[in-house]
Amino acid sequence: KKYKIVVTQDLGKDVMPILLDRPDFEVVVWHGTGPCPRSWLLENAVGASGLVVLLGNKMNAETFDTAGPSLKVVSTMSVGYDHVDLDALSQRGIRLGHTPDILTDAVADISVMLALMASRNAKQTAHIVENGEWPTSVWAPYLFCGPQISSSWIKPTPTVGFIGFGRIAQATLSRLIPFGYTHCLYTTNPTSPRDTAFESGILEKHPTLKEVKRVDLYSLAKESDVVFVLAPGGDKTRHIVNETFLKSMKKTAVLVNTSRGTLVDSDALAKALKEGWIWGAGLDVVEGEPNVGADHPLVKEPRCIVLPHIGSATNETRLGMATLTAKNLVAGVLGEDMPAEYKVSK
Ligand code: GLV
Ligand code: GLV
Repeated sequence: KKYKIVVTQDLGKDVMPILLDRPDFEVVVWHGTGPCPRSWLLENAVGASGLVVLLGNKMNAETFDTAGPSLKVVSTMSVGYDHVDLDALSQRGIRLGHTPDILTDAVADISVMLALMASRNAKQTAHIVENGEWPTSVWAPYLFCGPQISSSWIKPTPTVGFIGFGRIAQATLSRLIPFGYTHCLYTTNPTSPRDTAFESGILEKHPTLKEVKRVDLYSLAKESDVVFVLAPGGDKTRHIVNETFLKSMKKTAVLVNTSRGTLVDSDALAKALKEGWIWGAGLDVVEGEPNVGADHPLVKEPRCIVLPHIGSATNETRLGMATLTAKNLVAGVLGEDMPAEYKVSK
């Protein structure tokens, strides 16, 4: 008997053999241009034992029932699982594989990059050069200035705030310690408190850090010089950054979102930037993506950097994610321990 496996995106020549070389697997791969259409997925899922999917593939009761009782595992090439209906999944006894840890450093890197880009006017000023306007925009004492992300003679103890304080947030904090951060505020991940860090361990790891404190959202907004949004998506975290939150932030503060677009109310953020409630924003994710055009209010904001969800996009990390995805799938189909299973809590 062969297990049918459906793969919604080619995982590359270094990884596909993990699936294709197995004599007990019959592998169906989407090879079309662009993301695999829903209709293709549903047509091919019938009778499948395993699905290899990406963020754009909705994994809900319809998908699972179309596949039928043969479906043992969904393996997503992402750490996030907000595209998966966890209730529908666990009710049917289907297991979920995802890709934690391996992407932590890449996403922490880009989080710091976005904070720096937003604070230092990287978008506007790069455009000036691209447009050939450097010769006419002479170096002047206060031209293109923005708030300094690292500590400075005026502000020796900058404070960083994290909404959600899991693996990626803590890796981002590690990168900020050499910038002079001594104070760290966080709110727990509202969907999964078990992911929350242990403060004592963090202080031992970073001797220059004076304080790591769990606070309510509005204290975090009020006191932070830079806020990183790093909690999972889904209904419970929807628009956690709203008008009230943004109005509470410092006028010189920067907001960075490298988790899911749904956590930030885009209309409120566009207003905050336009009216100067905050200094700038760096977004790797936006509500409604990938339907974010050049006319999107956030894309048009000069101090809002918008990247097309590339947080984990390094060669090393994506290869690791794809490998882990394939290995999760194999173990899930065979009923073995998966290298990275997301266990749905009841
Ligand atoms: C990307 O957003 C992921 O969840 O891995
Ligand atoms: C800037 O380039 C400086 O020399 O201060």
